[in-house]
Amino acid sequence: MAYTAETLETLAADAAEIISRYPDPNSALLPMLHLVQSHDGFVSPQGIEFCATTLGLATSEVSAVATFYTQYKRRPNGEYTVGVCTNTLCAIMGGDEIFRSLSERLGVGHDETTEDGKITLERVECNAACDFAPVMMINWEFFDNQTPESAAATVEKLRRGEPVAPTRGPAAVGTFKETSRVLAGFYDGKAGEGVAAGPASLRGLELAREKGWTADGGGKQTAASGGESAPQPGEEHSSVDRPAEDPKSDGKGEAK
Ligand code: FES
Repeated sequence: MAYTAETLETLAADAAEIISRYPDPNSALLPMLHLVQSHDGFVSPQGIEFCATTLGLATSEVSAVATFYTQYKRRPNGEYTVGVCTNTLCAIMGGDEIFRSLSERLGVGHDETTEDGKITLERVECNAACDFAPVMMINWEFFDNQTPESAAATVEKLRRGEPVAPTRGPAAVGTFKETSRVLAGFYDGKAGEGVAAGPASLRGLELAREKGWTADGGGKQTAASGGESAPQPGEEHSSVDRPAEDPKSDGKGEAK
């Protein structure tokens, strides 16, 4: 179904703003596809046509990009994408069980949407939040240290239309369309809301501050001043001066 003249005018104005951010207009394609999702709830055929016409590309070129990335949906997406991380660490910490129980509860499998159009369930790859495994993402906001019970309770709230707050991020998770507009580059003013980095992510930084460690070796403290530091090349215990281990040895004794 073609866009109305009014919709086309709105999309064209937004697209012009996106395109103005790049030296090469074709670079605007990725955010423009998010813009289409923010309007249609997925990358629709008319959205592909709009991107192609605006950027002077073939529709096949736009489709090739839209089908490459999993964040672009080729079918109407649910109001909330619930992504359960089932990469190695999250999987063994319970991610597989969370996905299985949500799939059973919702009656949908991977990349499928509930009949009420509320939830699209996905298996997702590592979200670089392994220190909070197992992690669930809702419209790409973090829900840390999940259990099958906590995941189910959150999803039921969404189905009832109640707001849910991620562990880190804004005060409430936005809808798929709202989040898509942010991904298109239109700021929603929520960057300062909620918790930013969680305690597990900050632990390394805290330790470094306690010990006086810095990335460039500056601020090095001596044992006498109560701090610890790695030995520098040439100093006592430096690994540079340690004999290489024979790969055939058992690693327990001296190299032969
Ligand atoms: S394995 Fe799940 S966040 Fe890294």
